[in-house]
Amino acid sequence: MTDPGRATIEKLRAVAEEAMGRAYAPYSRFQVGAALLARDGSIIAGCNVENAAYGAAICAERTAVTSAVARGVHEFDALVLVTNATEPTPPCGICRKVLVEFAPELPVISFARGEESRWSLAELLPRPFIPESMERA
Ligand code: THU
Repeated sequence: MTDPGRATIEKLRAVAEEAMGRAYAPYSRFQVGAALLARDGSIIAGCNVENAAYGAAICAERTAVTSAVARGVHEFDALVLVTNATEPTPPCGICRKVLVEFAPELPVISFARGEESRWSLAELLPRPFIPESMERA
């Protein structure tokens, strides 16, 4: 996998920012938009969707992954996040686990207030339990 270049990141950022505007977050007011770059070049957006039963909330990263899988897309080259936080935030633990299933080395780029942070999913979730972990003798 080659790392995404600046032009690709900016395109993903625009998609994530637009998706952030669609976040349904009336309880936390923390808005998150995600843009997943698929290996086939398509971009799949996600936003967080909260619920009056707070525990039923789903993060932007997982709405993006589940939308992609529903389209038959399983291979990803980058994830860009945009939030209304004061500094760039990484994906939560559950989202890291869901993402690692499909893209263990995924580059994750997060924006907030014009600041940018970048991690690899391998760094965010070391020693993951992956499909191969279940191979039996
Ligand atoms: N949230 C995300 O969408 N992604 C993350 O990585 C962290 C948290 C959402 C879930 C909830 O709607 C709100 O942010 C506050 O946790």
